[in-house]
Amino acid sequence: MDEGLLEGEANLKSCLEDWSELNKEFTQLEATHDHYKKVLEELWDAQKKCLSGIAHHRYRMKQISEKMNRIKEKSKPETEDALKQLRLEMQQRKSQFREMEEFLPHKNGIYLSIILGSVSVSLLNKEEKYAYKHNYETFKATVSYISLALSLVLMFVTEYRWFDAVLHFLLVWYYCTLTIRENILMVNGSRIKGWWVTHHFISTVCAGLTLIWPDSYTYKYFRGQYLMFSSYLSFLYIVQFFYQKGALYRLRALGQRHDMDITVEGFMSWMWKGISFLLPFLFAGYFFQLYNAYVLYRLSQDPHCKEWQVLFLAIIHLILSVGNITTTLKVVVDKLRTNRRQELTNKYRFNSHQKKDM
Ligand code: COA
Repeated sequence: MDEGLLEGEANLKSCLEDWSELNKEFTQLEATHDHYKKVLEELWDAQKKCLSGIAHHRYRMKQISEKMNRIKEKSKPETEDALKQLRLEMQQRKSQFREMEEFLPHKNGIYLSIILGSVSVSLLNKEEKYAYKHNYETFKATVSYISLALSLVLMFVTEYRWFDAVLHFLLVWYYCTLTIRENILMVNGSRIKGWWVTHHFISTVCAGLTLIWPDSYTYKYFRGQYLMFSSYLSFLYIVQFFYQKGALYRLRALGQRHDMDITVEGFMSWMWKGISFLLPFLFAGYFFQLYNAYVLYRLSQDPHCKEWQVLFLAIIHLILSVGNITTTLKVVVDKLRTNRRQELTNKYRFNSHQKKDM
């Protein structure tokens, strides 16, 4: 027989054997997939039960609290002690609920519902949350390096307005993306202060107004100062990135340690060093922002000023500066007052089977 035909038959035989072997493996795969679907259904069931259980407990606790409030203020010392103890236990139960909810799906807020619809953005384990937060910080740093470079280049390239528009558009996109990512972080239990998210919403508007600001006398007048401010802001984001990255690594290390006491102290001392280093730079930025508001306001009163954007931008810079100053001061005061020991050690405590090198 022809050698080619023989080789063809041998190949066909080998193909059929491989196929039949693969069929056996496929049966196994089907069984695994069936098992997976069953586990998934059980998981959904368990999630629903936990969510409605927590809602039920909260409802009952609210009723108990209302009953407690009806007990007369001046009662026997034993009654007062019992009430105090009950309040303490209820407080502890509330933080237990929060811990439980870290592993349960959450509903999207209005903003995410509008943008993403009802798709779930819940991250159901701490390792995923850690990875997402890490990615968020890296994203901020990457765009900040780009905007810093672009702002510095633009200081020397003055004749093309469209080139400025690239920076303005980058900032509109960046702040818009930040608001989405921050809302996802908040759904997943991040304690970002509402102001920082609002700050990024307002910054989107600010960058948008600068984008549509015509290439006029006022634009040219403010352009140099704006580019200096934009460079400084990008630099600030980069310095903040090193602080947040350091905090994130240390929080993860805390969650994995057994002897935590010394490490929590270590974290706190590192955090205060970081904040003391950051604060002068932050406040310099806030005063720069105030100065921007002042210069823009003066410019809006100039007879050459025909653009409505100038006054709006002055107001926005003022709002941002005042909001930043008050929030940063509040954050520092809160940190001095509250004991976050438990929260810090639990923040990124992975189960042993969740741990993997990242
Ligand atoms: N943007 C986004 N997230 C922020 C944030 C900010 N500016 N400041 C704090 N967070 C996050 C933290 O990462 C943390 O998240 P987590 O719960 O997911 O772990 C949460 O908010 C709580 O942080 P908190 O303990 O209040 O503060 P901190 O120690 O992380 O940071 C500061 C304190 C003061 C250093 C920080 O708030 C900061 O850099 N503020 C200035 C920001 C600013 O001025 N921006 C505008 C000009 S660039």
